[in-house]
Amino acid sequence: MTTTATVATGRINPDATVGEIAASLAGATAVFRRHKIDFCCGGNVSLDEAAAKRGVDPELVRASLANLAQTPPDAPTGSVELVAHIIARYHDTHRAELPELVRLSRRVEAVHRDHPEVPAGLADTLAQAAIDLEDHMKKEEQILFPAICDGFKGALDGPIMVMRHEHDDHARTIRALQTLTHSYEPPMDACRSWQALYNGVEKLVTDLTEHIHLENNVLFPRFQSVRAL
Ligand SMILES: [Fe+2]
Ligand SMILES: [Fe+2]
Repeated sequence: MTTTATVATGRINPDATVGEIAASLAGATAVFRRHKIDFCCGGNVSLDEAAAKRGVDPELVRASLANLAQTPPDAPTGSVELVAHIIARYHDTHRAELPELVRLSRRVEAVHRDHPEVPAGLADTLAQAAIDLEDHMKKEEQILFPAICDGFKGALDGPIMVMRHEHDDHARTIRALQTLTHSYEPPMDACRSWQALYNGVEKLVTDLTEHIHLENNVLFPRFQSVRAL
């Protein structure tokens, strides 16, 4: 799903309705929820109108949405800077977005339980992914990354091999998410929440894929004495 209908160069299209923004910009539902803006049933109004209803400054909401829309900077080349980038851009983002995706998924599965295309099991898969990722990221942050940043001179084959195995598990989760969401294509009659859910899951998968790529193919080989198979 594209974000160009509502977001261009980090700016929110002023004509877009709250529902359209929620459906096309991953993470927008969390921003709206924070400001108590109804994006689902009452989403057919402009952002200004919805914000006025709740007595919030629309510019505040717009600024939060624009942050979500910004393209991430290119990954830095130094290992210490790359570790900081991975944590800020990917670990923190997964932690921020997964709970909202679990909530959205539980709601969609409950409200549309009789729909033939309901993504049954998606919420449980996302909840398990959140637990597994948290466990994995903690190991990186507490063991592997400090060794890298403290200028460890030897090879780190052992911990890196464990992380690579866990990345293979994440790849299996990604395939399960693709299958459950029919490659992120909601049915024609999907509500805003359903569309927002699949858009958010697609963003999670894109982020996780980039995240694993940066570790497996850029960072880890610098600290391994043997090539990974
Ligand atoms: Fe990581
Ligand atoms: Fe990792």
